[in-house]
Amino acid sequence: MWRAVLALLAVLCAHAIVPADAFLVKTALLRDLGRRARPARSSAGGCPFSGNALPRDKLVPESLRDIVQGVAFPGDSGVAPDVPPAWLDRQKFERGQAFSRKNFFSLAYAESLSLLINFLFPGELQPLIFTRRSSTVYDSYKRYFDTVARVKSWYESDPWTPNTTAYNNIATVRGYHLDASRRMRQASPDALRLNTTFGPHSDPPHIWSGATVERMCEDAREGACPSDAVDAVLKDRDVTKRVHLNQFDMSLTQFAFSGLIATFPERFGLHGNLERELDAFCHVWAALGYALGIQDKYNFNLGGLALTRRRTRDVLEHFAKPRLRTVNRDWEHMTRVLFEGLSLYNPGVSYEASVLYMMDLLGVAAPRLTASLTPTQRLVHSSIGVFMEGAMRVPSIRTWANQEVANNLRKAGRNADSQRYKESIEKRSYRYQFLPTPSRYQCA
Ligand code: HEM
Repeated sequence: MWRAVLALLAVLCAHAIVPADAFLVKTALLRDLGRRARPARSSAGGCPFSGNALPRDKLVPESLRDIVQGVAFPGDSGVAPDVPPAWLDRQKFERGQAFSRKNFFSLAYAESLSLLINFLFPGELQPLIFTRRSSTVYDSYKRYFDTVARVKSWYESDPWTPNTTAYNNIATVRGYHLDASRRMRQASPDALRLNTTFGPHSDPPHIWSGATVERMCEDAREGACPSDAVDAVLKDRDVTKRVHLNQFDMSLTQFAFSGLIATFPERFGLHGNLERELDAFCHVWAALGYALGIQDKYNFNLGGLALTRRRTRDVLEHFAKPRLRTVNRDWEHMTRVLFEGLSLYNPGVSYEASVLYMMDLLGVAAPRLTASLTPTQRLVHSSIGVFMEGAMRVPSIRTWANQEVANNLRKAGRNADSQRYKESIEKRSYRYQFLPTPSRYQCA
């Protein structure tokens, strides 16, 4: 995809469809506007929610105080599958579905980028390591292809009408979640500890982690506050003491599907006055969360666009940024195979460029990470911003990008069950398999 994007940008400048100077000036202006919309960088020494400085009940920003209580409760409320929430506004839901179908490219990229953030939380990462359904490039390609297809169905039919694809997919996903949490609950503490990490002593060919995690860790130690407050509240470091796939985890996954798009639409290629559509999009996610078993008081999107934005900014500032300081090799491996899997049907998706885009979005300076990128990766990183904040303003480019994703998904669907394709992917080797192993497993 990005290879095509780069070519398209070159063509735009070279053929003066948009005069090159005007394009650059406009892009600089857009970047400036975008920057104002991003979370502020922590001021020097200003760690407002540091555990030592504040009483316990003030450790968590107000918008998230109810949601964090969800760590103590199982993620599925047991709600009946054919009963929509009493607060459902059908018209708004359908408007949100239409918006999602029309902007699938932007949504899909924002969701992939959000997973880089969500995997900073052990409650999100460790169940996926445990089930081993996305730990290699091929498995990850299959797993996330299926995820995208299921989520797409939730934008296309009614999730409460029996036998629609959306309804069946809600039931399947609830089944997956219940199964994973039951298996984790039934595992012995030792088995749980062993099977929720790739282990500090894994060889590089088995765990793909090199420069990225090491550089991120160094950058984060300078650019983000410590995580003691987050630890005190989430109490999620010890896998043997957690409620697996709890209400908080579910809520944080709603953030992954909706938060970045709702809060930073321009950064994902959505322009113009979209407040009404984005509010409807949040309503869709509030309702899907309900259907998947999230109780109202932990529902990230209930309360509309303004509250979703408030919560997103608070998650990024108070939970995600501190957790950058605890990034480990499991994180790098799982996020690498995720992006490598996505790149099989979205050619040009770059892991390193996306990690840097995420750091940018979090407002954390990343000089060491940037220096570790190849010139091509740096170019891809810059083009993501130029494409999303500039080129995507052009309606025909937006249409093209959305069609491209739809075509790529169709192609991926055809390949998904081919044994030959599977073997060809499993035989591939990757540059980062041979990178030096970082000296530490876990950033501290
Ligand atoms: C709003 C919340 C969530 C949504 C919308 C969601 C969505 C999905 C979807 C679409 C699938 C199907 C993937 C497939 O067909 O292979 C799935 C499977 C799964 N999800 Fe979730 N999920 C949510 C929350 C969570 C959370 C909090 C966890 C905890 C880590 C989780 C762990 C899993 C697992 C273990 C599977 C089975 C596949 C595997 O082992 O990787 N999900 N989810």
